[in-house]
Amino acid sequence: MVCKIILIGYMGVGKSTIGKELAKKTKLPFLDLDKIIEKKENKSIDELFQEKGELYFRKLEHHLFKELLSNQNSFVLSTGGGTPCYYNNHLLFELENIKSIYLVASIDIIFERLLQEKQERPIIKDLAELELKEFIGKHFFERSYYYQKATVKIKIDNKNVIQIVEEISELLF
Ligand code: S3P
Repeated sequence: MVCKIILIGYMGVGKSTIGKELAKKTKLPFLDLDKIIEKKENKSIDELFQEKGELYFRKLEHHLFKELLSNQNSFVLSTGGGTPCYYNNHLLFELENIKSIYLVASIDIIFERLLQEKQERPIIKDLAELELKEFIGKHFFERSYYYQKATVKIKIDNKNVIQIVEEISELLF
């Protein structure tokens, strides 16, 4: 049977790290939507935003996401933080054989992580520390509606990757 597990959530929650581990545990191939985009365009996401703009990125993201969800392959897919929030991508969670998982983190945890890792993320890289906190608060709130459409929600604060993967497996299978 086809099984597509999709990890969604705000930047910095660990979608790729958790996705890789979950793929190992479920013995499914691991796919990372940002990496697929980078490979296809032969550019980093940051370069793509700078050279072609966010709209171009969002269209490509939608097209590839839809294509992946419509094929007959099984996989664990980590998405970008904005994937569910554009072009009605969240509605695609309702397609057959899809299990969508929202990795829920507190604003404080997200802020701490993104402060260290903001450089490669075009949306936040130019924000100063104070601006970043305010930005995350508002942006996260705007995006929550889409994240909430996931079938399963897992809180990740103060848990390690192994615990999170265990919890996801218990809820899914
Ligand atoms: C984005 C998140 C990024 C990447 C792009 C846009 C967003 O992915 O897709 O920079 O809009 O939140 P991560 O969530 O893996 O950082």
